[in-house]
This record gives sequence, C-alpha cells and structure tokens, in this order.
Amino acid sequence: MTLGQRFARFATDVVVRHPALWRVFRGPIRRQFDRLAPRWESIRGPDFLSPLEAALDLLPAPPQRVLDVGTGTGAAARLAGARYPEAEIVGADVSERMVDEARRLTESTRVTYRVADAERLPFDDASFDLVTLNNMIPFFDELARVIAPDGHLVVAFTGGSGTPIYVPPERLRHELSRRGFAEFAEVSAGRGTALLARKR
Ligand SMILES: C[S@@+](CC[C@H](N)C(=O)[O-])C[C@H]1O[C@@H](n2cnc3c(N)ncnc32)[C@H](O)[C@@H]1O
Repeated sequence: MTLGQRFARFATDVVVRHPALWRVFRGPIRRQFDRLAPRWESIRGPDFLSPLEAALDLLPAPPQRVLDVGTGTGAAARLAGARYPEAEIVGADVSERMVDEARRLTESTRVTYRVADAERLPFDDASFDLVTLNNMIPFFDELARVIAPDGHLVVAFTGGSGTPIYVPPERLRHELSRRGFAEFAEVSAGRGTALLARKR
C-alpha cells in the first residue's frame, strides 16, 4: 500500500471504533480525495464494482430510492441508475472535486449528487430503500437512520481485506446488528467481497 492508502486504512480503523474522531480525519481525507479526483477513473481496477453487483443480485425487489455514500466519481451511482430504471439515485461525497467529476460523467437526470459528509447526511430519516458503500468508511448511526424499514444496505470492498478502506465482515455485522439490521449475506466476486443487510 502507498502512504496515502495506509493513511486511509488507519483512518478507517480509528473512525469505525471512535466515530467522533472523524473530525480529526475529515480535512486530510477530503484533501486526499480532492487531489485524486481528476485521475480516479483511471486508477481503479476493471472489476472494482463486481462485489457490489453480486450483492445487488440478491435484493428481493428493485429499490426506488438509492443513496451511494462516498460515491467518488459516481460509478456505483451510475450503475444503480442503469440497473434500476424506475429509481432515483443520489451520490454523496465529502470531496467537492469528486462530486464535480461525478456530475461531469453522468448523463441520467435520475442520478444526482450532493457534497455531503457521511457522518451527518443531509437526508430525512428513512429516506432510502437501498444504500450502497463501495470502498467507503461506514458511519453506522447515519446508515441506520436514513435506511427505511425493510430497506437494504450493501457494503462492498473491491479488493477484499487488501482494500485500503476495509472493515472486516464480523465488525460490520456486530455494528449493524446493534442498530436493527438483520439477514446478512456475504458474497465474493472478482477480487473483493460485499455484505448485504436488511433493516428491520
Ligand atoms: C476509496 S474512494 C471510493 C469512491 C467510490 N465509491 C468508488 O468505489 O470509486 C472513497 C470516497 O469516499 C469519500 N469519503 C470519505 N469519507 C467520507 C465521508 N465521511 N463522507 C462522504 N464521503 C466520504 C472520499 O472523498 C472518496 O471519494
């Protein structure tokens, strides 16, 4: 891992255990991804959405309102837009430059973007029936708040445990169970892994 990737892993480990410490990492992480934004599309691997797609294959019904948190240049948001032609999709990211790129790369008017921090999302309670995270630090309280009852969460990591931003499935299950999620399913695809969970 590069120094930047090691920093992202360190921030992930700390923030998952102590979400209040995100305020220490917010500035450096945002600047790191602002810098990466112009070349983000070219530095990702070809199969980086495979685990996410494998988890979406397990959904019992197509969602209507989808949020992709830490959307970066919007690839997962566009994927959801193409997969679910009836759905409204929002991609949220703390990096303004990433959101600029995402908007530039997106044609569908059903797929929109917000500059927003996952620690405090600018959405009402129970606003979404699907929330996706692809290589993104989970903020569990906010995920539990914005997902409607019977809605789903997918947390995917492109390179499995080798992904710089990575949270082990046991930890995800533990944190999500405490917040009313159940019916977990773990999938592997490409080089990575994903966890699907349903909000009760
Ligand atoms: C590793 S990138 C993944 C981008 C995208 N999901 C993908 O798979 O290409 C992580 C993204 O999460 C964003 N991010 C990190 N912490 C965030 C937070 N608290 N709120 C919103 N976005 C955040 C970063 O700006 C970056 O765009």
